[in-house]
Amino acid sequence: MYTSKISGLGKYVPENVITNDDLSKLMDTNDAWIQERTGIKERRHIKKGDGNSTSVMGVKAAKIAIERASLANDDIDLIIFATLSPDMYFPGGGVRIQDMMNMKTIPALDVRNQCSGFVYALSVGDQFIKTGMYKHILIIGSENHSGGLDMSTRGRSVSVIFGDGAGAVVLSRNEEEDGRGVLSTHLHSEGAHAKELSLEGPSTEHWVPEIIEENAKDNIPYYPYMNGQFVFKNAVVRFSEVINEGLEANKLTASDIDMLIPHQANLRISQFVQKQFRLSDDKVYNNIQRYGNTTAASIPIALTEAWEEGKIKEGDLVVLAAFGSGFTWGSAIIKW
Ligand code: ACO
Repeated sequence: MYTSKISGLGKYVPENVITNDDLSKLMDTNDAWIQERTGIKERRHIKKGDGNSTSVMGVKAAKIAIERASLANDDIDLIIFATLSPDMYFPGGGVRIQDMMNMKTIPALDVRNQCSGFVYALSVGDQFIKTGMYKHILIIGSENHSGGLDMSTRGRSVSVIFGDGAGAVVLSRNEEEDGRGVLSTHLHSEGAHAKELSLEGPSTEHWVPEIIEENAKDNIPYYPYMNGQFVFKNAVVRFSEVINEGLEANKLTASDIDMLIPHQANLRISQFVQKQFRLSDDKVYNNIQRYGNTTAASIPIALTEAWEEGKIKEGDLVVLAAFGSGFTWGSAIIKW
């Protein structure tokens, strides 16, 4: 059996910065409320006409990751694309990326696991490398949230949290027997809570005739819904469980962690988890203050930045952990 390792990383965020004060001009909110509840100071939003879309941002991040892996597009054997905000209802964004990058007719797989999307995608990629089926896999998380948020006061408890952006990694077969790479991944779901953080329409349950009916507008299944406090309570429990599961599977303890990269859901959730594992500030990476919650893109963006800033070094134990809509959650334990 082979081991997979991350051979290249990249990120892209739109230039358009939206501060909390900018949001307060659109809805009844304020900087103090947003910072106190979420830690977020600003986020990036695609600007109409700037040429970005979920897939376009994914391509921009992917190009950097492939270059840093010292590979060419033709070296990639599989694309795995995680997003909850695809350009189109179908087909998925993976095939658009294959086209935009002029890649061979390699397979493109879309992952629909929201905030856990990147960890799920990494786990799927890891299995393909382990079995020897593929050698280099492009894994992308990208989100265009701003295109689908309710930017009025009605949507404020959700809209202030989310931002746009993309992150990508190349997962490659580790040709050396040096013990480095993905040690294990751990995935879970609990669909009983699917509606607690969801966007119901457009879907086959809420389709076009309903959307165009005048009186359907007030039902708003076309904007995301989030039961914030319920999500928060579940998140802190599941984050801890799945990190512990990963550590135990590898006979490790929290003191072995060199860098924890939690999905950037809410700074308060990350701080809670940090406290539970008694990790010092330099062992937990957070950038939600600058980007908001970018869902499937948040871990690869944070991982890329942590690496660019020299905070992840060869041999480090890096732990990725995510929780989100579904509910789904997961972790990955990586020897860098
Ligand atoms: N600005 C100002 N006031 C607001 C805003 C806003 N943006 N949003 C809600 N409020 C008001 C509410 O209307 C309410 O007012 P009321 O007391 O007069 O009724 C008050 O603030 C408190 O609202 P709550 O929803 O109870 O606030 P809470 O402290 O729970 O914070 C939050 C809300 C930030 C969403 C929190 O529940 C949370 O972080 N939950 C976790 C969910 C999460 O992290 N989601 C991220 C995406 S999911 C994921 O990635 C895991």
